Amino acid sequence: MKVDVLLGLQWGDEGKGKVVDVLTPRYDVVARFQGGPNAGHTLEFEGQKYVLRSIPSGIFQGDKINIIGNGVVLDPALFKAEAEALEKSGHPLKERLHISKKAHLILPTHRILDAAYEAAKGAAKVGTTGKGIGPTYTDKVSRNGLRVGDILHNFEEKYAAAKARHEKILRSLNYEYDIAEIEKQWLEGIDYLRQFHLVDSEHEVNGLLKAGKSILCEGAQGTMLDVDFGSYPFVTSSNTICAGACTGLGLGPNKIGDVYGIMKAYCTRVGAGPFPTELFDETGKTIRDLGHEYGAVTGRERRCGWIDLVALRYAIMVNGVTQLILMKSDVLDGFDVVKACVAYQVNGEEIDYFPYDITEGVEPVYVELPGWKTDMTKMTSEDEFPEEFNAYLSFLEEQLETPIKIVSVGPDREQTIERYID
Ligand code: GDP
Ligand code: IMO
Ligand code: MG
Repeated sequence: MKVDVLLGLQWGDEGKGKVVDVLTPRYDVVARFQGGPNAGHTLEFEGQKYVLRSIPSGIFQGDKINIIGNGVVLDPALFKAEAEALEKSGHPLKERLHISKKAHLILPTHRILDAAYEAAKGAAKVGTTGKGIGPTYTDKVSRNGLRVGDILHNFEEKYAAAKARHEKILRSLNYEYDIAEIEKQWLEGIDYLRQFHLVDSEHEVNGLLKAGKSILCEGAQGTMLDVDFGSYPFVTSSNTICAGACTGLGLGPNKIGDVYGIMKAYCTRVGAGPFPTELFDETGKTIRDLGHEYGAVTGRERRCGWIDLVALRYAIMVNGVTQLILMKSDVLDGFDVVKACVAYQVNGEEIDYFPYDITEGVEPVYVELPGWKTDMTKMTSEDEFPEEFNAYLSFLEEQLETPIKIVSVGPDREQTIERYID
């Protein structure tokens, strides 16, 4: 059995949560491999809406095992709030959710350090989610981190040492903070975490594969936020690409099967950083309003622009994407013309590859396609697609040299259309 990976190809918020939920019935296990509560994955079904932060999006479909892998960073306080809300809404998860002992813990002081570093950067700030992601991964890589497994032995001692080290840094930054309340919640979260199956997830996933089980890995963020290949330094602190599923779960690369790359029919970005196809005009505002492009958790306004095929070709390349999933085309249902960026103009020269630096002087070159001017939100089969929409799909497939397997025409689980392709 192989492992399939579903991941974002843009700057996050492509609709990963929705599609993981839709695909879950085909798998035995769903696993998160990187990121943490910086993610906000929205699912809608039976008139209910859920936003998941740390818990995999396979939690609503039957009794599937859901795994939080070693590559994830976990905030026990936020995790407790999320898990308790799910349990309360009739979705018990203690028996089905397994958490890697090697996943790193986000400490209260990591969150404070995140804010302090952002404040120190001033105008150059990244616009992080403020969840302590960067400082936690920094401690992991500099070999100072605390892991979930640490809560099982001498935890108080280890926590006190880490906190003292962080407080020293905060003093050096002259950063004022109040830790009492968040620390109290965090310590309650640590106790809560002890009730879960804390596992060696690398043994578990490989054992499951050996036993013939199938696994769907759920990416968080998106390829353009990858710490190596994204728009550095305006990125997150983990490898969001397919290779992250190997390091974040302990899987050999030869275990990876399909790589589902998910993208919106346009493009959005939250936080600071370059965005070549960003629209500052009425069209951008229309896309934001029609697409409800506001952060799933923070409510922050998402920046909106046209689809960027140059960046997408790059994302498909670094991930080895085998199938594409197109989201939110319904947002463009009323448009007369839909644009797609096929190349960049850089210093008067047209290039079709993603360059080292997209900070300045990158002008998108657009192709205009006729809009389909049809409400597609109630469609259930590709046989109903209007001609112009089929032409749009063919154009994207040709440009991206990858088939589009699924088209999503609304936020609900049911608003998902699979195409007849191999
Ligand atoms: P994720 O982080 O990739 O899981 O995506 P988010 O949940 O942050 O953002 C996607 C948003 O678009 C959510 O509000 C979804 O409910 C919504 N959504 C997902 N698919 C579609 C779609 O096909 N059409 C529309 N209109 N909304 C969608
Ligand atoms: P999902 O999984 C969109 C962005 C932040 C910021 C940068 C770094 O829902 O797609 P961080 O807190 O990670 O250090 O912030 O990354 N960012 C996201 N943008 N969707 C996300 O997750 C994101 N997670 C982080 O806005 O620009
Ligand atoms: Mg999101």
